[in-house]
Amino acid sequence: MTNFGLVVAATEELGIGMLSTLPWRIPKDMAFFKHVTMHVPKEFPSNQTTPQNAVIMGRVTWESIPPKFRPLSERFNIVVSRNPTYDLQLANAQQPSTLLVSSLEEAFAAVDPQQHPRCFVIGGAQMYRLAIKHATCTHILLTRVKSKVDCDTFFPEINETDYRLASHEEMEAYVEQEVPRGLQTHKDLEYEFTMYIRRSFQPVSPTIENHPA
Ligand SMILES: NC(=O)c1ccc[n+]([C@@H]2O[C@H](COP(=O)([O-])OP(=O)(O)OC[C@H]3O[C@@H](n4cnc5c(N)ncnc54)[C@H](OP(=O)(O)O)[C@@H]3O)[C@@H](O)[C@H]2O)c1
Repeated sequence: MTNFGLVVAATEELGIGMLSTLPWRIPKDMAFFKHVTMHVPKEFPSNQTTPQNAVIMGRVTWESIPPKFRPLSERFNIVVSRNPTYDLQLANAQQPSTLLVSSLEEAFAAVDPQQHPRCFVIGGAQMYRLAIKHATCTHILLTRVKSKVDCDTFFPEINETDYRLASHEEMEAYVEQEVPRGLQTHKDLEYEFTMYIRRSFQPVSPTIENHPA
């Protein structure tokens, strides 16, 4: 099975959502999310087809994305629902960049390391809870929202025997761009970019976690 990462923004209490939406709007975190989920590692071999990362999300998270922004562009969107006839309401029903599946396992099976250099589970709580237990969940990109924000949906506990907090340099090497260091502010919110790595993770190369061979 393909290695994958989680991308999340969470408070110190691990709050991630409120009333089925994001409880904040942090433009630099949205830009970070976009970069992380879109970026194809520089070492990824180029061939005729343009590689795109895969993003896996639960049905509630899919619905929380404004219709004009979904599917998330330049990414292979995989939506998980128990309802096999769920209507993704795509403007173009032939959207090749979007797939409906009925389990997380089916989502991973749809990811082809030759076409999808990286795979990320992007929420919500139900998906994170299932995904974080997988041995192939190698990275957690966690934007820590330091301010108190009311939430009704929570990210699972990060077990420190399984994951370690990575250094800022390790995070920058993984995302292949500079990341603002330390406490950031947006209006009355304080936040910080962090990353966790699974302790057992052995990279094939510093930036490619799946062998595209
Ligand atoms: N802060 C962040 O970084 C972040 C990121 C993403 C989302 N969020 C927030 O998280 C909240 C949504 O999270 P959520 O936990 O309520 O929903 P979710 O994980 O996005 O989606 C839940 C849905 O996924 C499907 N599902 C769950 N387990 C399944 C399984 N084992 N097999 C097949 N399908 C399964 C079900 O869809 P059906 O009901 O259709 O069967 C279920 O209702 C929102 O507030 C959102 O804004 C926050």
